[in-house]
Amino acid sequence: MDTARFIARLIKEIQKTVGPDKAISALSGGVDSSACTMLAARALGPRLKSIFIDDGLMRQDEPAEVKGIFTKLGVKVDIVDARREFFAALKGKLDPEEKRKAFRNAFYTVLGREVKKSGARFLVQGTIKPDIIETKGGVKTQHNILEQIGIDPQKGYGFKVIEPIRELYKPGVREVARALGLPARISERMPFPGPGLSCRVVGEVTPERVALVRTATRIVEEELAVLKPFQAFAVLMNDHGTGIHQGRRKFGNIIIVRSVESRDAMTAEPSPLSWDVLRNVTQRILKEIPTVTRVAYEVTPKPPATIEYI
Ligand code: XMP
Repeated sequence: MDTARFIARLIKEIQKTVGPDKAISALSGGVDSSACTMLAARALGPRLKSIFIDDGLMRQDEPAEVKGIFTKLGVKVDIVDARREFFAALKGKLDPEEKRKAFRNAFYTVLGREVKKSGARFLVQGTIKPDIIETKGGVKTQHNILEQIGIDPQKGYGFKVIEPIRELYKPGVREVARALGLPARISERMPFPGPGLSCRVVGEVTPERVALVRTATRIVEEELAVLKPFQAFAVLMNDHGTGIHQGRRKFGNIIIVRSVESRDAMTAEPSPLSWDVLRNVTQRILKEIPTVTRVAYEVTPKPPATIEYI
């Protein structure tokens, strides 16, 4: 594709849809929402308000880091602290689809409130083709799919949705992101799911369990960074494994390390990690998170497994 012409067309489309009104962009720092925020900022200038919802489910230091990157690019980002609201919505929920729906509802309720406050009528978001295919196909409820499955965002939350990159797959989004001048830290970034670390906590999502998986995720990302996998992360299981601590039995947490290679996330293969890498990542997790007694590496391809655990 001729990326510059494609971008010009997307910018025109946003301008035509929004007209003289205002829009809000939901920025998470992933390549999809970052590309959309840049497109909308170019299209609307000060009539765009970009917000980063701190749902408490992000990776370490993410809100401030993303805000910093966009500030350098001349895009002002407001951080909305909604951590309590998200944890309240997820409290007591164990079923993966129930958790996904609770996240989606909290996400759009917070956004709806921000849209109303700002007087905007539109929400710009980074939905891409696989999100639509997987949700419509019944694989899982992606957090950002509404109209495609019959939910009217105007009725439910008070705004219209604009999805400029809904026809693209990951490689196409990365191309657009590079052409928009986003730094490699964003354009080449590993995918991270909208519902964040809640996808990586099997069972109940509590602040404590999220904190644990956040530390494990940081270790996995750091240890595997040089290998540049398509996606690598840690998952906290909802069970305990017998271990030994100071000579006594301990039922500790179980962490699964997942690393996959893929082009567009529709199918994936486990990364062929070396024994050294597996040993290093395991030792660091055991040392830095003393409540963990077991670490395992997941070797299932997609299909039949999905990339995330919920
Ligand atoms: P699965 O787990 O379905 O994931 O194989 C495919 C890709 O999508 C990401 N993912 C999501 N992204 N909202 C998103 O924006 C979601 O609800 C969501 N669920 C999964 C996942 O990280 C992988 O890259």
